[in-house]
Amino acid sequence: KKSLNDVWVSGKKVLVRVDYNVPMDKQGKITDDTRIRATIPTLEFLLAKNAAIILASHLGRPKGKVAPEFSLRPVAQKLSQLLYGREILFAPDCVGPEAEKMAAELKPGQILMLENLRFHAEEEKNDPEFAKQLAGLAELLVNDAFGVSHRAHASVHGITRYIPAVSGFLMDRELLFLGQAVTAPSRPFVAIIGGAKVSDKIGVIENLLSKVDTLIIGGGMANTFLAAQGYQTGKSLVEGDKVDLAKELMATAKTKGVNLLLPEDVVVADKFAADADRKTVAVDQIPAEWMALDIGPATADKFAQALKGAKTVVWNGPMGVFEFDAFAVGTEAVAKAVAASGAKSIVGGGDSVAALEKLNLAAKITHISTGGGASLEFLEGKELPGIAALADK
Ligand code: 3PG
Repeated sequence: KKSLNDVWVSGKKVLVRVDYNVPMDKQGKITDDTRIRATIPTLEFLLAKNAAIILASHLGRPKGKVAPEFSLRPVAQKLSQLLYGREILFAPDCVGPEAEKMAAELKPGQILMLENLRFHAEEEKNDPEFAKQLAGLAELLVNDAFGVSHRAHASVHGITRYIPAVSGFLMDRELLFLGQAVTAPSRPFVAIIGGAKVSDKIGVIENLLSKVDTLIIGGGMANTFLAAQGYQTGKSLVEGDKVDLAKELMATAKTKGVNLLLPEDVVVADKFAADADRKTVAVDQIPAEWMALDIGPATADKFAQALKGAKTVVWNGPMGVFEFDAFAVGTEAVAKAVAASGAKSIVGGGDSVAALEKLNLAAKITHISTGGGASLEFLEGKELPGIAALADK
């Protein structure tokens, strides 16, 4: 794979595929601009080289139809702010005569943002004609959209057949840190996996079991493991059809000599609500009418101990119902422990990152991934189509 550093971009027209799929509130205000900020190094480099930049992204899932609430216009405004008021031209469609005209007239040092790629069903269908039209707008593709690498879509996959393509600096960073963790981690290597459901993370757990020294499991998904150990879990979220799988994963950990850590105490609640009554109990004492919504303090301590001395840490997913302050304590304890570990730390997943930001600890993390599904699939050891397409060049 070639990177932006390996090619001549001075004065060239460059299509930069970014993942500006950012969360917005109902008024169209961007509530987290991390993904936009993360692409600035690539954009500044191109600007310094006097390239003409055409930005292409998707936003949300408009299912191939034009939908104003999925317009990228607010993103263009935000990018302009982040670039100190620089003008961002906007094409109301990503292909077609107007986009072609605006792209053709774009001058070195200017930035043009195209409207949402997913307003065309052809994007997700990886349609060759659509890919060709996008490719026709520029001389070079810089793919900086790690977050959508797990999708074989026209703008990241098909397009590479029609135009030279290289990775951008954000893509390189993601591949460097995630890649090092899974292929050549400094040891001890500790992974912490959380989140509501085991079913979302089976592949990640399976793959990490042959890589890590210690695997920590917390969050709602830990309940299924507690059930697998024979504990009564009351009204806790348990995936009944995954209990046997949890047993198998525990057995695999044993065979592979992986230290698998599960909760030993939990914070239980009498209902699923921010203001629920709550108490801390040992995992063999979960009352029948109550549900576990966070790890308990003894578990948080145990997890923190396991992170001490780690050389590589991968963390994905909260330890409890992070959106309720009363049940965010375990996730925050893990955030602090990861930040304090001194390990090379790689964190992904909205809640894990939110916990670090809430505690002002994000700067202590070696790499915060901009990929959700993409970073999980990477950790599963899958080949990501967007990256494979670059490697084939
Ligand atoms: C993401 O937010 O994970 C990426 O932008 C991909 O979005 P998608 O899941 O809608 O394909």
